[in-house]
Amino acid sequence: MLRRRILSRHATVAVVGQGYVGVSLACAVSEVGFPVTGIDVDAARIGDLAEGVLSVPGVNPSLFRAGNDAGNITFTTDLDAISGADVILICVPTPVRDHTPDLSFVERASRDVAERLSPGRLVLLESTTYPGTTEDLVRPILETSGLVAARDFLLAYSPERIDPGNEEFGLRNTPKIVGGISPEATGLATLFYEQLVEKVTIVSSCRAAELAKLLENTFRHVNIALVNEMATLCHEMGIDVWEVTEAAATKPFGFMAFSPGPGVGGHCIPLDPAYLAWQVRRDAGHQFRILEQAQDINARMPRYVAARIGDALNDAGKPVKAARILVLGVAYKPDVGDVRESPAVEVMSLLIRRGADVAFSDPHAPHVPVNGMTMTSADLTQREISRADCVALLTPHHAYDLDWIADHAALVFDARNAFGADRRPNVVRL
Ligand SMILES: NC(=O)c1ccc[n+]([C@@H]2O[C@H](COP(=O)([O-])OP(=O)(O)OC[C@H]3O[C@@H](n4cnc5c(N)ncnc54)[C@H](O)[C@@H]3O)[C@@H](O)[C@H]2O)c1
Repeated sequence: MLRRRILSRHATVAVVGQGYVGVSLACAVSEVGFPVTGIDVDAARIGDLAEGVLSVPGVNPSLFRAGNDAGNITFTTDLDAISGADVILICVPTPVRDHTPDLSFVERASRDVAERLSPGRLVLLESTTYPGTTEDLVRPILETSGLVAARDFLLAYSPERIDPGNEEFGLRNTPKIVGGISPEATGLATLFYEQLVEKVTIVSSCRAAELAKLLENTFRHVNIALVNEMATLCHEMGIDVWEVTEAAATKPFGFMAFSPGPGVGGHCIPLDPAYLAWQVRRDAGHQFRILEQAQDINARMPRYVAARIGDALNDAGKPVKAARILVLGVAYKPDVGDVRESPAVEVMSLLIRRGADVAFSDPHAPHVPVNGMTMTSADLTQREISRADCVALLTPHHAYDLDWIADHAALVFDARNAFGADRRPNVVRL
């Protein structure tokens, strides 16, 4: 029955949580023809979305438009919309507090679903989490409905993998991993996702799907830590880390290049591996050593970069105290406005604590909280650049005119190799 409704795209879909992940998914579901309701507890966010205003950062505007233009999408704060849905997707936050996973949002959303669950439904968890969450946490909560998983309703896990701002790989051409609590759950979840994406990869369990996502993020974390530590060692040895990584990357197999920088930021890389580190400590009673080392190395990078900016000023005969430092790019990566966990914020905070007069300019992030205060982006004028003792390029947005910046700056600290090898004499690289 549900199989037929999915194939004909008449199945009704509810997406619980309308953040970056939930809005993107709801729009993709609408675009291919399913009637879909985006549900969120945040009334202001729902108000905007219902009026066609995309106030959720990072969502691809053309995907949002396409989802709306398809005419199948509604947004609501009314949780009762869950009752009418054949397929229910849970896309709520999974933050970390004091190095411990906070699954309260997943628990609450699961309870909301349980109160409105009826037989024959397919429930899909997409939030990033540690292995066992779907089977050991979500399933028992859903079964408080009196319905039994695998018999009365189906449950599967499929991690969201999309990368905000990535123009090449979006929801449609990034394979979806699916693992269900039963073959039927896996099969139906696969059928559903096949309507949205080009390729679905099936794994044997929810746990395998949950861990696959954490492995991806841990892989990035560890490799970024490797190249960050390499950058600090290269500096001590007088070797150019960028030249070394570019040379290594010419090997056509067995090497993947990662770039050093001021640390890791965003909603995924700094946080998700903490779920795994916590779980290994809890269940196996020991550390996930390479991961915890990587967390430590990456967490120290803002301090290292702030110190290197201080060194560059010192070489120019200026103390950090009272130096005017203009930071370019506070978002955690180029061409997005997301400042969550951004290492640039910590770099600014450390420099301010050392007495520097810090300003920032970012075309994508107009405001950023630093040391308990909200700082506002300065206009990137020639005067602003010339009056700075050091311009610190921390996130190389494409909007920056690098030649113009170098022409007018006394000193540039380039934390991302934006200027490349043929940089000017006034540009110092990480
Ligand atoms: N942002 C990313 O790049 C990304 C990528 C892959 C996976 N993820 C994961 O996906 C999940 C969601 O991430 P996000 O970035 O969309 O989060 P978000 O914080 O941007 O949005 C989550 C939304 O859920 C809503 N919400 C919370 N509890 C709710 C409830 N009980 N009922 C209805 N709505 C509720 C919040 O109001 C918020 O609007 C997280 O587990 C995250 O780790 C995020």
